[in-house]
Amino acid sequence: MKNNNFTINYPSIFCGTEKSHISFLSGKPDLVSVFNPGQNPENKRRFFVTDATVASLDCMKDFISKFDDDSCGKDVLMILGSGEPYKTIDSVLRIIKKAIDEGFSRNDVFVGIGGGVICDLTSFAASIFKRGASVQFVPTTLLAMIDASIGGKTGCDFENYKNMIGSFFPATDLFYFPEFVQYLPEKQYFSGLGEAFKTALLCDEELVCLFKNESEKIKNRDVEIVDLIIKKCVAAKAQIVEQDFTEKNIRAFLNFGHSFGHALETIVGLGSITHGEAVAWGIGRAIHLSYKKDFCSEAFRNSVFEILQNFGWETKAVPSIVKGGGIGERFLTAMHKDKKNIDDKIRLVLQKNIKDTFIAEVDDTDILNVLK
Ligand code: GLY
Repeated sequence: MKNNNFTINYPSIFCGTEKSHISFLSGKPDLVSVFNPGQNPENKRRFFVTDATVASLDCMKDFISKFDDDSCGKDVLMILGSGEPYKTIDSVLRIIKKAIDEGFSRNDVFVGIGGGVICDLTSFAASIFKRGASVQFVPTTLLAMIDASIGGKTGCDFENYKNMIGSFFPATDLFYFPEFVQYLPEKQYFSGLGEAFKTALLCDEELVCLFKNESEKIKNRDVEIVDLIIKKCVAAKAQIVEQDFTEKNIRAFLNFGHSFGHALETIVGLGSITHGEAVAWGIGRAIHLSYKKDFCSEAFRNSVFEILQNFGWETKAVPSIVKGGGIGERFLTAMHKDKKNIDDKIRLVLQKNIKDTFIAEVDDTDILNVLK
């Protein structure tokens, strides 16, 4: 990418916005400069939503204090609990109730400041608040920067299944401070890397080579390499969602590793394993299944496994976090609930090689074969 900013154009859609503008901002995250709480551009009030972890970051102090000392004018800040257990319809309704109590209108703006959970919840609330207000994001995790905040998927979990309720509703503006990545706990950073590796396999051979040849720099969060990973993943995802916003065809490729991964998250309990770690394990299973069915070579499978293992992601048939018996059946039950399935068949994203991806309906026995 030549310049630092980026626009994603959506095909003609009737929700949210037709464009998402991404601004890449360098240095320490300075949300006061971006938003100027208390000064409402175009008379729009802002309803900021974040979580307790982000609110406690040192770099957020000045921004949060605007709401403690009442210099926030008519803007409002809501701080939710952190993590997947809070990705519930109850959190969505709490946002909406507070927005109603505070007298917000559909002309005002919701702003999600956080990881994938906060971005998904805030945008879902925005999409149904008085039939739709607009939403902006400040993604603070690698995963939110490269995946969750781009392309308008909103929603919450339901009855221990991931993202069962939601809508398509893109953010109008995204403000990226890549430096937020330096504040992430190791597990969250590697969770984002899991999604980045998925994007690399789907779209970008050069990025796969970076994972292979620059693993130490990546693990050590080298600033330039983190920047490059973010920009490459954003460009790749933008290209996909511009073509297929509502996931009628190629956007479904982005679910590579997710059918196994979501099932794993369900089985061990949402929040017990990071999303990216579950996806990384799921990529291994999808590639192994591709190999077992002769879709890909052994050399390709081994090269992917080598990278997964180098980053500490499990490639075993059953990850060590899964306990108890009846594992195959438990996975099948969870995988049959996948949103991508049509009728009773499990639809999986598989690969023949890097950038050579397809979707296949597979039998339950194919799934069971790679889980033992
Ligand atoms: N996270 C997959 C997608 O946005 O389609």
